[in-house]
Amino acid sequence: MQDYKDILAEILIDEKTLQARVKELGSQISADYPDGNLLLICILRGGVPFLVDLSRCITSPHTVDYMAVSSYGVGKRESSGTVRVAMDLQTDIQGKDVLLVEDIVDSGHTIAYVLEMLQLRQPKSLKVCALLDKAERREAVVPIHYRGFSIPNKFVFGYGLDIDEYYRNLPFIGVVDLKKYQPPK
Ligand code: IMP
Ligand code: MG
Repeated sequence: MQDYKDILAEILIDEKTLQARVKELGSQISADYPDGNLLLICILRGGVPFLVDLSRCITSPHTVDYMAVSSYGVGKRESSGTVRVAMDLQTDIQGKDVLLVEDIVDSGHTIAYVLEMLQLRQPKSLKVCALLDKAERREAVVPIHYRGFSIPNKFVFGYGLDIDEYYRNLPFIGVVDLKKYQPPK
């Protein structure tokens, strides 16, 4: 894999801006869910850094669970539209105030699928918190109750988002220069 500096077209959202926004979202969520019935569901793998930072900014008692879904294969940069649950929750969500935490809503297929599936389990409430919203690419209509940033139609990486599984660790959101990028073998 190339050094990220060689494939970075621009930093779209820097670390300070990201952290400030996560803090704001955390305050808002703390105020909206004061009674300790909140369950954050992190969608693996991209949602992890956001979940961890967000959870630390939520001051009301809450629990966390994880779920793995995939609609992308390595090397593909388009949602296939078919979503698969690779790892289900450990928690019974019936009667819980569920908040789905996602890195990005792109076509919307992933969230649409997960919402439909979780709704059948009768949570008390079910909402979506997405760090990034790439609305231009939307194909499925999905609600986003908490939105970090609206972004243009560009392929981004860092802060949970990967390019062929690399660079989820970067503390900022960068735009990939697809002219310079060579996928790893
Ligand atoms: P959707 O089903 O098309 O909304 O796709 C959502 C998933 O695709 C996200 O959770 C990401 O894992 C991935 N994804 C979409 N856009 C990007 C991007 O620009 N960079 C990295 N991953 C992306
Ligand atoms: Mg994701």
